[in-house]
Amino acid sequence: MDIRDRLERPLRDLRISVTDRCNFRCTYCMPREVFGRDFRFLARDDLLTFEEIARLARVFVAQGVEKIRLTGGEPLLRRDIERLVAMLAGVGGVDLTLTTNGSLLPTKAHALKAAGLRRVTVSLDALEDDVFKRLNDVDFPVARVLEGIEAAEEAGLTPIKINMVVRRGVNERSVLPMARHFRERGHVLRFIEYMDVGHTNGWRLDDVVPAGEIVEAIDAEMPLEPLSPNYPGEVANRWRYRDGSGEVGVIASVSEPFCGSCTRARVTADGTLYTCLFASAGRDLRGALRRGVGDEELAGLVRAVWRGRDDRYSELRTLASARDEKVEMSRIGG
Ligand code: GTP
Ligand code: 5AD
Ligand code: SF4
Ligand code: SF4
Repeated sequence: MDIRDRLERPLRDLRISVTDRCNFRCTYCMPREVFGRDFRFLARDDLLTFEEIARLARVFVAQGVEKIRLTGGEPLLRRDIERLVAMLAGVGGVDLTLTTNGSLLPTKAHALKAAGLRRVTVSLDALEDDVFKRLNDVDFPVARVLEGIEAAEEAGLTPIKINMVVRRGVNERSVLPMARHFRERGHVLRFIEYMDVGHTNGWRLDDVVPAGEIVEAIDAEMPLEPLSPNYPGEVANRWRYRDGSGEVGVIASVSEPFCGSCTRARVTADGTLYTCLFASAGRDLRGALRRGVGDEELAGLVRAVWRGRDDRYSELRTLASARDEKVEMSRIGG
């Protein structure tokens, strides 16, 4: 990539993980053999406080960030998350959103909306309880997630997006039922190619169902046509149903990498800044925050990291790199 392209990639999208814990154990993200009883999650003191997160958010917004997404682990497990949402809503001028597994939305959707959250994205990989369980490795009924989605809709956390990670031989048969279901309800379903994030999920190229194949399968039953992106650097390729009944998206980060337009920075719950989902190392911001540095110095730190970034992992992926030690998805938040 040309050095000018690198410098010109704007920093638009900030993802902040608020916890590395989750009540699910998705096999592709937090396999139980690794994230079991003995796994050491971050301690409370390691986590950035809400005040620290809000301060960072202001610094990033001053650098041009337009969207803030709260992630996890499962972000709704962080105690008093509504208070953080209210603080971030107070920063103003940003699209404030959150990615959740939906399990706590039935109880939290209204409070989140009242606090100033604009919309949510819910991860759901199947509609059939047995397939869902195979993927998330907990006994959680799909119906509860669907209730969560309804609660979000009632609360006005819209437009709602649904993210489905597709794995060959595990939930590829759920693609069409999911498309039919969410088309009827008017939510935007996005199919994500299974990625080699972290180094515990045992990824193999054979597990990936290429986005082209998914689009073809849906198009055969419910004809589709391409749509242009909503904004520059959007990760999903959009498709609309020709009969006008809504849209779906595909996130083809394995078969069609989009590193050249990557505008996202990620901060983990303990305040480490990463510029790539597949990075092995990040830059500590918590230390600077707790040393009491001023906003200008913090902004300088962020600018230096962003200017120095040359990551384009998905474009360079090989079978060998898939086995490299990388930050875990549950830590970096997707
Ligand atoms: P919108 O604001 O609704 O457009 O959200 P989004 O599509 O930017 O965010 P979301 O978190 O829903 O992204 C969906 C999924 O795409 C993530 O969970 C990741 O699996 C994948 N993804 C997002 N950003 C990147 C990225 O920078 N690189 C790669 N390789 N995958 C990404
Ligand atoms: N490949 C693709 N997407 C993943 N996610 C988690 N692990 C993976 C993976 N290995 C997605 C989740 C959720 C978001 C946080 O990241 O499904 O939508
Ligand atoms: Fe939890 Fe989401 Fe990871 Fe599944 S993908 S284990 S719901 S953080
Ligand atoms: Fe950005 Fe890294 Fe994803 Fe490429 S692989 S799009 S550089 S986060």
